[in-house]
Amino acid sequence: MDVSKKVWSCNEWDPLEEVIVGTVKNAVVPEWNVALGSATPSHSKWFFDEYGGKPFPREMTDAAEEELNNLVTVLEKLDITVKRPAPLDFSDTYKTPWWSSTGLYAAMPRDVLLIVGDIIVEAPMAWRTRYFEIFAFRDLIEEYFKDGARWLPAPKSTMNDAFYNQDFDPENAEPDGIRQFAISEKEVAFDAADFVRFGTDIFVQKSEVTNEMGIEWVRRHIGSEYTIHELSFDEEHPLHIDTSIVPIAPGKLLINPSWVRKDHLPDMFDSWEIIEAPAPTKPFDSALYFSSDWLTINFLSIDSKRAIVEENETPLMELLYKHGIEPIPVPFRNFYPFGGSIHCATTDVRRRGKLESYF
Ligand code: ARG
Repeated sequence: MDVSKKVWSCNEWDPLEEVIVGTVKNAVVPEWNVALGSATPSHSKWFFDEYGGKPFPREMTDAAEEELNNLVTVLEKLDITVKRPAPLDFSDTYKTPWWSSTGLYAAMPRDVLLIVGDIIVEAPMAWRTRYFEIFAFRDLIEEYFKDGARWLPAPKSTMNDAFYNQDFDPENAEPDGIRQFAISEKEVAFDAADFVRFGTDIFVQKSEVTNEMGIEWVRRHIGSEYTIHELSFDEEHPLHIDTSIVPIAPGKLLINPSWVRKDHLPDMFDSWEIIEAPAPTKPFDSALYFSSDWLTINFLSIDSKRAIVEENETPLMELLYKHGIEPIPVPFRNFYPFGGSIHCATTDVRRRGKLESYF
């Protein structure tokens, strides 16, 4: 590795040196639409009807921001450099030639930025509310670019009405035995969090925000040293791969046993130890969520011996400990209603290591 590089991260477990931590400042509740409906239980619709386009309630953002700030302190104590985005005013309505929308937040750097070696891939996203989210991170990206990183923005789609399957019914996503999604294959779409990096092998799932065209775009542009493998699990409405499979060290993969069976994994994992995660401790009872109880396994590895984990997850911490990982607990449950946990709220910009094949 070229040590002068500020951006360098090839997997989820090499020693972490620099990370971006999101913010819920200025977070705005998205308005209900077909794409949001595909990822959100219908019993939460009232919340979006009532608050859509308005800032998230102050108590929610204050409590979540406090947890994010605490995470920053914990990371800095571990000698890790932390960068934060500059949130836009997400309650401003913006207009494109096809539609207008308010924004969402800059809470989940994992969703918008995919770091592959020294390349920063900007995800094109699939929700109108996230169309301009990347600009909260642009100062950082420009700084990294000046320091030598490569910068690869994916083409943004129009996100016009024809891009969405307007009659998509989340309660009946396989009408003719073929899985439908809220987004079509007309244009390139992906969120970075549907990809997970294992050195030269990168795994991805098709989801409510990632289509085949998006996967093919990454495959063609990322460089021939990488192989992109497509996986598919039993999550009813797949949205981001980082609560399904979580690599914790070379040869050790944690899986969510509700959605992932060993035979969902390609044979290349035969030599890996597959570890089933314990059930989440407390059901996640907020009326508002874009995500499931399994946010509990959405933790951040500091290296292959330590991980930052939500403090209530005692069974998970015990399991990690048994597998040689020291858990570092932090409170994070107030962040969950925004749709993610510690892994989503961060993106590792630099991990010390080299590009390798682990299979
Ligand atoms: N679909 C996942 C779940 O329900 C959400 C994962 C969130 N991940 C993220 N990077 N925002 O658990």
